[in-house]
Amino acid sequence: MQFNVDATCGKARACTITTAHSTIQTPIFMPVGTVGSVKALDMADMTELLDTQIILANTYHMYLRPGDETVAKMGGLHGYTTYPNSFLTDSGGFQAFSLSDISKPTESGIEFRSHIDGSKHFFTPEKVIDIQNNLNSDIMMILDDLVALPATQERIKTSIQRTTQWAQQSIDYHRYNQSKGIGINQNIFAIIQGGTDFNFRTQSAEELCAMDYDGFAIGGLSVGESNNLMYDTVEHTTPLMPADKPRYLMGVGTPEDLVENIERGVDMFDCVMPTRNARNGTLFTTFGKVNIKGAVYKYDAQPIDPDCQCYTCRRYSRAYLHHLFRSREITYFRLASLHNLHYYLWLVRQAREAIIAGQFIEFKKDFYARRQS
Ligand code: GUN
Ligand code: ZN
Repeated sequence: MQFNVDATCGKARACTITTAHSTIQTPIFMPVGTVGSVKALDMADMTELLDTQIILANTYHMYLRPGDETVAKMGGLHGYTTYPNSFLTDSGGFQAFSLSDISKPTESGIEFRSHIDGSKHFFTPEKVIDIQNNLNSDIMMILDDLVALPATQERIKTSIQRTTQWAQQSIDYHRYNQSKGIGINQNIFAIIQGGTDFNFRTQSAEELCAMDYDGFAIGGLSVGESNNLMYDTVEHTTPLMPADKPRYLMGVGTPEDLVENIERGVDMFDCVMPTRNARNGTLFTTFGKVNIKGAVYKYDAQPIDPDCQCYTCRRYSRAYLHHLFRSREITYFRLASLHNLHYYLWLVRQAREAIIAGQFIEFKKDFYARRQS
């Protein structure tokens, strides 16, 4: 992976990441394609209509169904899905923790039951790399031990100790595999944990950033803490991360969260929010959120956002989308998802342009000034 910092503005950064499959300009938002598909959309939408350079898929899901060996036989994620640009795969730790009926972290890995059929499985740091080798993602995430907040000091301490131990095993295993010709085009990121305790975050960041990783993520946030506590934790952590490697904030967030954390030096984001909210009727715009279910839209001939150039806004009215949503038409899910993802991708592109122009502060002021909800 090549990495270049193109410009900075305060702590905000505009960078370029080049993988074997695409060139990614940051700040970037990665649409979530959990099972190898961004819900309601297909890969032509991702490339032609949305022009995405990277999407996320989940190790946990692809391992359980269709199975990572099936994906490998069908040409890896790229061959199987036809998506030509980069894939980042999450490690499965978070999904085992949040989706599984029972998930038990131990010294050596995470034991969990499948949310599909209840079968028992065990993820180790090495196992999730084997799976991600089969998926052939461009960026692999390590197995981490994360905790729901609030948590006891003791539990957070165990989490960062385990995450450091697993990170050492993961990097050793990946570099050894590469020396044998496995995963040579794959990159690997470690995940900083530590809850919202600054001392634990410092310890976790120092231990992980001393290792030979291609990039670093901040995990364990947006799990029930307040926005300000999340922002403060990120602000504390980014200066501890190397300036010459990508910084990824996992599972975040709202448009405000993106702007606030870009300001604090984060380069990469992912979240189910734009696609999930689209399906629930919540559409993001430059002036705030639109709940398309509202009766006020019944005769509204305007597009969702008059400033939006997305496929949906160029073509359809709020009135028609309101009708499709109320009729639970499948078409609505696609049109709404296209708009919300376009908005997120447009927002991070605007942020990048502002950083390059040295006007991030003005961009942020304007972002808040335009919002009514
Ligand atoms: N997705 C959101 N947060 C996290 C995290 O802390 N770890 C992992 N592996 N995935 C996440
Ligand atoms: Zn739009």
